[in-house]
Amino acid sequence: MALREPRPRPYRIRAPGPFDLDEIARIESESFPIPWKREFFASELAEPHRYLRVLASEDGSEPRIGGYVFAVALYEEFHINKIATDARLRRLGYGRLLLEDALAHARAAGASSVTLEVRVTNGAARAFYGSYGFTDAYRRRAYYQDGEDAMVLVLPLSSRGG
Ligand SMILES: CC(C)(COP(=O)(O)OP(=O)(O)OC[C@H]1O[C@@H](n2cnc3c(N)ncnc32)[C@H](O)[C@@H]1OP(=O)(O)O)[C@@H](O)C(=O)NCCC(=O)NCCS
Repeated sequence: MALREPRPRPYRIRAPGPFDLDEIARIESESFPIPWKREFFASELAEPHRYLRVLASEDGSEPRIGGYVFAVALYEEFHINKIATDARLRRLGYGRLLLEDALAHARAAGASSVTLEVRVTNGAARAFYGSYGFTDAYRRRAYYQDGEDAMVLVLPLSSRGG
């Protein structure tokens, strides 16, 4: 019988704690040209109206944290500040796991739309969000510190769970 590639380790979603910050900052610095600092993630842990989740490996093996989503619920709007998966785990469905959990939370919280900013050149992320029905709302010129524009994406949520 032919040997099979080992299956990726299973990850489960849970709320983050201060003990996760090193791993979150590691993924962040590998994933974004201008990463959030560790201290900024730390301050988010204490803020109200936040929806913060990490993917934690079930047996504690590496990578111990496989990804995260940091979002905020502002009245009727649910805004995703950050979503990333460890580069070793991409295209395995973990991004979907995080986003679908966030969308379910947004619906349950009564949000009418989900918004986020994405770099105009970030094709992977734009394809990822596009597959969920996010559409381009408008462009923010020189939104990022290096001068790149952001596209603001919006996903309307219907009260019937659409
Ligand atoms: C965007 C990101 C979170 C996707 O995470 P992921 O774990 O690879 O996502 P999934 O495996 O669940 O992919 C879901 C779908 O998104 C789309 N997608 C993801 N990466 C893609 C890529 N590089 N090119 C084209 N489509 C892509 C595909 O439709 C994919 O489904 P498929 O694999 O069945 O074709 C990940 O690429 C990442 O962390 N990027 C760096 C950080 C970032 O840019 N975050 C978003 C900032 S707004």
